[in-house]
Amino acid sequence: MGKNEQSRDLAHIGHIEIFTPKLNESVHFFKEILGMEEVGQKNRSIYLRAWNDYELYSLVLTESEQAGLGCLAMRTQSEEALNRRVGKIEASGYGQGWVDGDLGYGKSYRFTDPDGHPMKIYFETKKYEAPDHLKPSLKNQPQKRSSRGVAVKQLDHINLLTSHINPTSTFMCEVLGIRMSEQIMLDSGEQGGAWHHMSNKAYEIAFTKDNMGAKGRLHHIALNVEDRESVLRAADIFLDNDVFIEFSPSKHAIQQTFATYVYEPGGNRVEIITGGYFINDPDREPITWTEADRAKGQAWGNKTVPTFHTYGTPVIAGELASKS
Ligand SMILES: [Fe+2]
Repeated sequence: MGKNEQSRDLAHIGHIEIFTPKLNESVHFFKEILGMEEVGQKNRSIYLRAWNDYELYSLVLTESEQAGLGCLAMRTQSEEALNRRVGKIEASGYGQGWVDGDLGYGKSYRFTDPDGHPMKIYFETKKYEAPDHLKPSLKNQPQKRSSRGVAVKQLDHINLLTSHINPTSTFMCEVLGIRMSEQIMLDSGEQGGAWHHMSNKAYEIAFTKDNMGAKGRLHHIALNVEDRESVLRAADIFLDNDVFIEFSPSKHAIQQTFATYVYEPGGNRVEIITGGYFINDPDREPITWTEADRAKGQAWGNKTVPTFHTYGTPVIAGELASKS
């Protein structure tokens, strides 16, 4: 298989577990301000879904001393695809082994990427069946639209802060078989960012360089809404609810999404997003952005906020977020 050939063994991100030191406040944020539904509780974990997620849930909030990534769980196309990828992961040396499933999904295989981000892949899953009060009118929609707060539609992607992107990006391409769609190439020859995709959506997993030099941190999770007006409305809702807005609504140059970024009460960065593009070209070359390109700022010329390159979770002692 070529370096950037897509195996299509991985289907999409199924769910993301994030840690929070303020579980009750984080649950309030995702349920009442973002409009997600709670579908389960276990120990100190709360399971949440957005209204268009077809699986039982897409987000797990787990109480922990520090914020950060618990695990990134990706669904494969089939049992055969799962076993094929496990073989590749085991051969890479980053495998950790099979584990039993949890609420809503079957056996899964745990591993990390070369930077230490916890990940797993699985195939068996539980398709969501809405209770009577959440049944939609249309049979091609899993749940009635949320009418609370931002009313996020679906889990969109994850961005992982990474100490050295080259080995992690190569792992994604060669071991997981997912393609790179865009990258930042620093003048030094090192990647400053890499955006990867498994479906035709142009990215689901992004890696950006951690200028604090730490390994395995979370940059943000992203949930999508249907249009730009919904992103603007989200910003107003955040303003009214004293949610720290790190990046006001604007258009990214990379991936051309329209988004705003906030910190949830546990400290994890959350993006509300719409737009972007799909990739049909099977031998498309990745788009490469240089340092000179990036110096021009985002799509409309506004500068990237400096904390994008330093703030992540877990928060590093002494690190100052601009909200302080
Ligand atoms: Fe993002």
